[in-house]
Amino acid sequence: MSDVYIIGAGETKFGELWERSLRELAVEAGLKAIENAGIFSRDIQVLYGSNSLAGIINGQENIGALISDFSGIAENHIPAIRVEASTASGGAAVRQAGLAIKSGEYDVVMVGGVEKMTDVYGSEIIDLTSSVLDREWEAFFGATPASLAAITARKYMADFGVDKEALAMMSVNDHLNASKNPDAQFKNRISVEQAMGATPVAEPLNLMDCSPVSDGAAAIILASEKYVKKNKIDGIRIASSADAQDYLAVHSRKSLYALDSARIAGKSALEKAHVKLDDISFAELHDSYSIYGLIELEELGFAERGHAKDLVFDDIKLGGRIPVNPSGGLKAKGNPFGATGVGQFVEAYRQLKSKCGERQVKGAKYALLHSMAGTGSMSVVHIVGGE
Ligand code: COA
Repeated sequence: MSDVYIIGAGETKFGELWERSLRELAVEAGLKAIENAGIFSRDIQVLYGSNSLAGIINGQENIGALISDFSGIAENHIPAIRVEASTASGGAAVRQAGLAIKSGEYDVVMVGGVEKMTDVYGSEIIDLTSSVLDREWEAFFGATPASLAAITARKYMADFGVDKEALAMMSVNDHLNASKNPDAQFKNRISVEQAMGATPVAEPLNLMDCSPVSDGAAAIILASEKYVKKNKIDGIRIASSADAQDYLAVHSRKSLYALDSARIAGKSALEKAHVKLDDISFAELHDSYSIYGLIELEELGFAERGHAKDLVFDDIKLGGRIPVNPSGGLKAKGNPFGATGVGQFVEAYRQLKSKCGERQVKGAKYALLHSMAGTGSMSVVHIVGGE
């Protein structure tokens, strides 16, 4: 089977982009990726569109066709397919695109992720984002993504003697890195005191423990080994890809803080890539809530259960043992659901090409990218980089 390479990447700024429409965002990211790859749009043979909530937020379905049409490639009549897996849509779309290349059917594939979330008035967005949970058994009874993350945090902190400061450090790190990322939603650095003293959202989580509501789009161009060699392109290899599912509702899982999907997908991705954790230069984690950042560090193998707190004060910083979220992560780069996972690839591509300026991870060789659905019902892990 062919290896898969990223040959171009582009994204919009993430944030509250009221003046931009869903389609404009998708087109901007797509055109940037095409330009960055140095190809023509007619070279693309299939498009995978990643989106989670456009149907209920924007009243727009048929996202594959929308992106294809407004990117100016409709006249090429190539297939355009939407992939939906909640907040893991991006990782899932890249995985499907990679498999399409590996099958031998395609040589050049575009993956575009987009979400436009800030057009909804007031707290309606909380109900709409709760649609990624089990509506009948969680959301119906008042659970929201924030309240479930808070329950997880309470139990985890009590069981392992973890204090609020450890959670705050995830967000402090994200904001510091995002201050060096022009595409990030929040560029303000925050102190531990600010992170700990912010407005409560769902105890023990406050505003600084939560990723924001975001608009944005990201796109990458993937190509086969044959295409890359023939055209002498210096692409970035996707070393492996793996995904795993878990129960939809948190109460069905073996514990309130087990993210089995992350553990299984992470282990599988490392094995497939023949890469050890020590070889990973940096990780982009799905920290929609700070607590998930800590638990993911454990499930992915960077720390023993209950010990992510030992990493968050120094090791996760740029220049630390395992830099986490050089992009700014979901907390500070932003979390436009369908674009988030694709945006992780944009960051990895730029990092592995040494194009990240002030937030560059020195000597970056391998990136681990974790895209997670909702409270952990699905995880997609990719290892990117290497020869
Ligand atoms: N971090 C830091 N600042 C934030 C923020 C966040 N997560 N969310 C909003 N803000 C800022 C806004 O920029 C704004 O600042 P300004 O007054 O300087 O312009 C201010 O806080 C108020 O913004 P507003 O949009 O009114 O916030 P809100 O109170 O309606 O929403 C949350 C805050 C935390 C409830 C909302 O961001 C949220 O629901 N986040 C979680 C989304 C989610 O669940 N994602 C994962 C699903 S699986």
